[in-house]
Amino acid sequence: MPTSTSPVIRMQRSGIRSVMELAMLDPTAIRLELGEPDVSTPAHVIEAAARDARHGHTGYTSSVGSLELRTALARKVTEINGLPTSPDEVVATHGAMHGLAMAINALMGPGDEMLVPDPEFPNWRMAATAVGVDVATYPARAAAGFVPTLEDIEAAVTPRTKVLLVSSPNNPTGAMYPAHVLEGIVDIARRHDLWVFSDECYEAITFGPEHVSPARYDTDGRVVTFFTFSKTYAMTGWRLGYVVTRDDVVHDLLGQVAEATVACPSSVSQRAALAALAGPQDDVRDAVARYRERRDAAVALLAARGIPCVRPDGAFYLMVDITRATPDSDEFALRLLREKHVSVSPGTAFGAGGAGQVRVSLASDRTAILTGLERLADLVDEWAATPTAAVPVAAAHAD
Ligand SMILES: Cc1ncc(COP(=O)(O)O)c(C=O)c1O
Repeated sequence: MPTSTSPVIRMQRSGIRSVMELAMLDPTAIRLELGEPDVSTPAHVIEAAARDARHGHTGYTSSVGSLELRTALARKVTEINGLPTSPDEVVATHGAMHGLAMAINALMGPGDEMLVPDPEFPNWRMAATAVGVDVATYPARAAAGFVPTLEDIEAAVTPRTKVLLVSSPNNPTGAMYPAHVLEGIVDIARRHDLWVFSDECYEAITFGPEHVSPARYDTDGRVVTFFTFSKTYAMTGWRLGYVVTRDDVVHDLLGQVAEATVACPSSVSQRAALAALAGPQDDVRDAVARYRERRDAAVALLAARGIPCVRPDGAFYLMVDITRATPDSDEFALRLLREKHVSVSPGTAFGAGGAGQVRVSLASDRTAILTGLERLADLVDEWAATPTAAVPVAAAHAD
């Protein structure tokens, strides 16, 4: 048989998926490992998409998305994100992650390096590895609220660095970077002649601080911004996102990659996106209020149980410090699932910076989150009280 010579064979399996697959075997498990909104797409969006499909919106569109959708997106980016944008500067994609993968494909090659924050969202690395691009990291430390310093970022730049990736609000930490940090990141990119990829997947999910797009500080078109309908409108399965770029060449290259791979974004999902943008935004406001309330309740519960965490300012994740029990987040996540029937993502699924932590999704049911965190705190207490209890997982499972 022929064998694969593709860089894809070097891709690591995500540590989130491994826990997820074990959790699926336990019907009693409280599932807090995945970043999926716990509500479905607003009914008016579903109805508009069904109506438009019946009216013939079922064929190919331009590979960069229909002009009608790009016009609506350009208006949204201009008005909501404060970035004056024309429809020719927008590319509709199959979600933010597809936009990122297309941009990596279009602008980078084997041997180039992309810098991402640590802890990191694992799919960035997977998309880079798939095309032979190397990934290096800059630290975003818990002690600093998971906000990186400009010194650390600049120190991580090498002659091979081509892209500096930033994501605020952040997954997995929920950190929002202050405007001066975002401005400094664009400045570093300018001085070292790098692209900035800004993953703004959670732009709408913020609990106080204003969301700021680094593109506000862009003077020459080096910032490429990635948005999505997935989280804002609970539309993860519709696969609809968009890229904003000031650079005509980047726009054309993205269109070519789209043509060569997906032909165009799903036409029915493009109609759904139009309805989501044009319709009432109450569902978005209500969802953000719910995430915020759950964040407050979760942080208060952990404080009462003496478990450290960094209060997230946005997105819907909480990194919980379990070092009182163990620095091994994989072993902790496995025991939590096996002994307490709660599944969380091990921090190291997000890189070395996630050691001693686990990620809890606040997009789950409120009672499930609070029950899950009580059980997590119980395990920390039990483990810390009996250091020898750090028995191998297999032995713990046997009884
Ligand atoms: C940081 C980040 N970027 C991108 C994505 C993927 O978004 P989409 O569904 O639009 O591809 C996610 C989803 O969890 C994410 O957390």
